[in-house]
Amino acid sequence: MQKMIQETLSQFQTHYGYPAELVIQAPGRVNLIGEHTDYNDGFVLPCAINYSTFIASKKRTDHQVNIIAVDFDGKDNFDLGKPINKSEQGWANYVRGVFKYVQELHSDFTGIDLIIHGNVPLGAGLSSSAALEVSIATTIKTLYHLPIDPKTLAKICQKAENKFVGMNCGIMDQFISTLGEKDHALLIDCRNLETQSISMPTNLSVVIINSNVKHGLVDSEYNLRRQQCEEAAQILNVPKLRDATIELLEQHKTKMSNVVYRRAKHIITENTRTLEAAKALSENNITKLGELMQAGHLSMKDDFEITAPAVDALVDIVKSVLGNKGGVRMTGGGFGGCVVALAPHDMIEPIRKVVEKEYYAQTGLRESFYICHAMNGAGKVSV
Ligand code: GLA
Repeated sequence: MQKMIQETLSQFQTHYGYPAELVIQAPGRVNLIGEHTDYNDGFVLPCAINYSTFIASKKRTDHQVNIIAVDFDGKDNFDLGKPINKSEQGWANYVRGVFKYVQELHSDFTGIDLIIHGNVPLGAGLSSSAALEVSIATTIKTLYHLPIDPKTLAKICQKAENKFVGMNCGIMDQFISTLGEKDHALLIDCRNLETQSISMPTNLSVVIINSNVKHGLVDSEYNLRRQQCEEAAQILNVPKLRDATIELLEQHKTKMSNVVYRRAKHIITENTRTLEAAKALSENNITKLGELMQAGHLSMKDDFEITAPAVDALVDIVKSVLGNKGGVRMTGGGFGGCVVALAPHDMIEPIRKVVEKEYYAQTGLRESFYICHAMNGAGKVSV
């Protein structure tokens, strides 16, 4: 962490020729359970992780915004006095979108010089995009003392992703990157944004394993799932799938396609599992938690159809070592990405060894392994 901060600061000095006045960090996240439930007004159980985006910055007196993204080897700049339009560089749109929607609420800030540098694995389902958005919004807010409360800040970032980038994500990632709590997972009610902090059992590690499966159609498949959920809610005559029960779904089964039925079944059962998992976690009932994570994974595989064969193989390999001493499932939006396991500390090495041998043998792919801790959300870094 200190190394990342020093690198960010020295990059700032090198590029701009003067020192930065502020460093902000915003973390990535891992979701323990509650997948695709956020945009259905349901429940999620994520924690922020110790992998972050860092931004070094300094105010300017004109209206120029200068951005250097070290990890993308990219540069961007625009004028806050003119309409903010889309860039051809994908990464820059997360930044531009946040500036645009902060400006919509608070037009009274001037330019900024920025350096962006981070270690959230990109495209792995650990919310590197939310970390980027939240770090930008927190930088603008902090530099110019803007009165933006954390929930509004998360919503501005979500809006940037929905309306500027074009990915119809829910609120989970931006919310946990802003409001994460050290050593806790947050049970978030995505309807009213109320939270319950659940302390992470000290006997368990959060292990994240990237399958390194890449899928080209993540955004379009994601947006399609969202449409299918909306279709189901309409047929069930409820505002959101959060309001539906399994009984209601069964009564209307013949009025919808089998695909839409299975999408709704995942969301309805996943909401129940998430509430039960929060309870199991708070009671340190690891056997129950493991069962819920297993059921959640199968529901994503068979009903929501967002896993991939290699990801399923990875889950099975980890499960074969863990047994009922922990839980494992795919995490995040899906179509590749990571699996999350909650495992006793002394099982990390056995898991690592078996995965190293079996995953490649079964899939021809090599995994990446991360041991994580639940961290605080975005904020100022003391340098
Ligand atoms: C992505 C989205 C989130 C959420 C998850 C799936 O990470 O950004 O809003 O929908 O997928 O749970």
